[in-house]
Amino acid sequence: MSVTILIGAQWGDEGKGRFVDWLAADAQIVARYSGGDNAGHTVADGERVYKLHLIPSGVLRDGVVSVMGNGMVINPISLLKEIDELTAVGVNITPENLLISNRAHIITPSHIARDKASEKSRGNDPIGTTLRGIGPAYLDKTGRQGIRIGQMLDVETFAEAMRASTERANAELVNLNAAPLNPDADLQAYVEAAYRLRPFIKDTSLYLHQQLQAGAQVICEGAQGALLDIDHGSYPYVTSSSPTVGGALSGLGIGPLHVTRVMGVAKAFATRVGGGPMPTEQKNEIGDRLRGTGTNYWDEYGTTTGRPRRCGWLDLVMLRYTAAINGFSDIAVTKLDILSGFDELKVCVAYEYDGERLGYPPDTTERQDRVTPIYDTLPGWQENLSGARTLTDLPPQARAYLQKIEQEVGLPIKAVSVGPEREQLVRLA
Ligand code: GDP
Ligand code: IMO
Ligand code: MG
Repeated sequence: MSVTILIGAQWGDEGKGRFVDWLAADAQIVARYSGGDNAGHTVADGERVYKLHLIPSGVLRDGVVSVMGNGMVINPISLLKEIDELTAVGVNITPENLLISNRAHIITPSHIARDKASEKSRGNDPIGTTLRGIGPAYLDKTGRQGIRIGQMLDVETFAEAMRASTERANAELVNLNAAPLNPDADLQAYVEAAYRLRPFIKDTSLYLHQQLQAGAQVICEGAQGALLDIDHGSYPYVTSSSPTVGGALSGLGIGPLHVTRVMGVAKAFATRVGGGPMPTEQKNEIGDRLRGTGTNYWDEYGTTTGRPRRCGWLDLVMLRYTAAINGFSDIAVTKLDILSGFDELKVCVAYEYDGERLGYPPDTTERQDRVTPIYDTLPGWQENLSGARTLTDLPPQARAYLQKIEQEVGLPIKAVSVGPEREQLVRLA
């Protein structure tokens, strides 16, 4: 029995989906533990490109059971759409290979309306949320007035809870100068969703416990990134859950002694969507070049919202920090291929703040906004890396770039991807 926790080591979109897909080849279970359809995880299997928002990325591997854990917030309408879209292209989804925690919380139309109204009320300083209702759903959960997936098993009380939730939300919407919702408007669609989802609902933590006792290999699929963590990220420019290592345990209901690996996934450069500090951001032709023009599906435009991502040099101060707060055992690096063609590459090795050199980010968002990155400059390479499959296929400058990351963070890199497809991967150990 073993549990691998895979965590985004930056601000999300590191390429977690493709590495979960890789690890899932040797696993029996892949489990999502946090967030909802704010996530967008891309997996390319040689035939198709899949964009998964709620369903774990293991669903594309035969024989793997997908678990949506109690730590998630689930929009049932989005989930059914995703199930239908995947089914339409031949992915097998049944109550035998997709289990939804009875304790996960439901995202309602009023959560989405509150998310939009709350962002609007912040005027020039929005968080930049995905507008999927994530924050308000977690707010209701911790405020002990949320609706859990398990309530769908009793459709009558579920419908009453939905109506009551919209009525409560309406008071807040009016306060935020937004139009109140008709409590009956989406009720029928949610009730129908309840009937369809009922067979998938389980006590997933007990299921995981039993499977682990029976020797199963479980991959915990992180969503978002450690720097968007509600506690450890640049508050308030964060998401409302815990994408970090503890979130995996509480978001699935499993114990720490099962965990044998905590893998951080880091992109070879930095990207962020939404507001908040990003010390190495390049608002210039370097950032534009890292982003791409949007002609390739892997260019830096949001999988969920289509927003252009902010791009910049690799920030090893932030990576050192996320390695520390998660206790990564190793790192996977993605999109190394995108760095081909630069004469020189910069990596941020420290920050300067008030005349002091810092190896870790300062502890407040305001201070993080005021740091100056200190860069080391490394030679670039011109070769196209997309065909590399072994370390020796990589040019020496690319190997030196990876070594620099290992040195600065103090952890081994176990795999590097050089393109979005399954086989475009170099295993290092
Ligand atoms: P996630 O949210 O962490 O799963 O990442 P996203 O799917 O939002 O964004 C990563 C994007 O990069 C996707 O379009 C992937 O197909 C793509 N991708 C992943 N690894 C690589 C790689 O090594 N090279 C290139 N060019 N694209 C990659
Ligand atoms: P994956 O799993 C990148 C960001 C939003 C915003 C902040 C809060 O694909 O890596 P929210 O809707 O969660 O309240 O938004 O978090 N964010 C993500 N950024 N990738 C994600 O998911 C994200 N999920 C949320 O852009 O800044
Ligand atoms: Mg993503």
